[in-house]
Amino acid sequence: MNNTISLQLGDVQTTALIPVAIKASESLRKNPRVKDDVAVDIVRHLDVDTSKYDKFMSHEGVIARTVMLDRFISNFVALYPQAVVVNLGAGLDNRFPRVDNGRIHWFDVDFPDMIEARKKVFPPRPRVSLVASDVLKDDWIAPVLEKAQSIDDPDMLFLAEGLFMYLTLDEIGSLLNMLKSSFPHGTLIAEQNNPMLVKHQKHHDTVSETNAVFKSGTWSAKELEALCPGIRVTDEHSLNEEMAGHSLRGWLFAHLLPKMNDRLATIVW
Ligand SMILES: C[S@@+](CC[C@H](N)C(=O)[O-])C[C@H]1O[C@@H](n2cnc3c(N)ncnc32)[C@H](O)[C@@H]1O
Repeated sequence: MNNTISLQLGDVQTTALIPVAIKASESLRKNPRVKDDVAVDIVRHLDVDTSKYDKFMSHEGVIARTVMLDRFISNFVALYPQAVVVNLGAGLDNRFPRVDNGRIHWFDVDFPDMIEARKKVFPPRPRVSLVASDVLKDDWIAPVLEKAQSIDDPDMLFLAEGLFMYLTLDEIGSLLNMLKSSFPHGTLIAEQNNPMLVKHQKHHDTVSETNAVFKSGTWSAKELEALCPGIRVTDEHSLNEEMAGHSLRGWLFAHLLPKMNDRLATIVW
């Protein structure tokens, strides 16, 4: 990237700058837990001061979820080398090269303005497709199904990283039902926040710097099973598991307020 990048993003889309700012600053540390050169490049060229999006709690949470999801997806890809991965609400995420095995197919789905932003900052990549669509509309299903049908019975992995908190429970239910009725089998990894964070969102260290609104939260991903008969939550891990090992503040947070951190739930059907 040589020129200043100017992005015109809607309210919820702006939240994608938070993980970018965090992954950029982490990448420049001495022993980075996550290395994302595209994020560094974006932050260097963006006409916005992103320091307001890189605060301690958000930083540790985003890095923990990135490390945990990278690990989970790499394991999934090792088991299912022809997997089709669909990143719902992809923002400016750059996970593909970190987990690619040279065979998977990857879809990044987000609103049209975010997809335009991705086109400005990422070169076209083989086996990566961009789909401009609201995840709640079924426009993105056909291109994904077309690819899936061209591969012999691929394993489908869907990611919802930093997405569900911006949807109501009804909307999450519609999305889950859409996934279940469109794909015979699948695995979804969904980040969950909790109702307390929704209530106190004005105090969130970085999302409060945007105009986005948290619309829902759960105390257990099991609550989602009631929204879509036939899905099963098989696993749920707090970001504390990763975060507690990296700083005293992270350890204290994880041990004094164990239920307050986001969780990554595995859902299958
Ligand atoms: C906090 S960002 C997370 C971005 C990315 N997953 C990451 O972790 O870096 C939330 C993203 O969800 C997207 N998003 C929220 N609601 C959406 C919807 N209904 N349809 C498509 N994308 C949506 C936003 O545009 C934004 O890119």
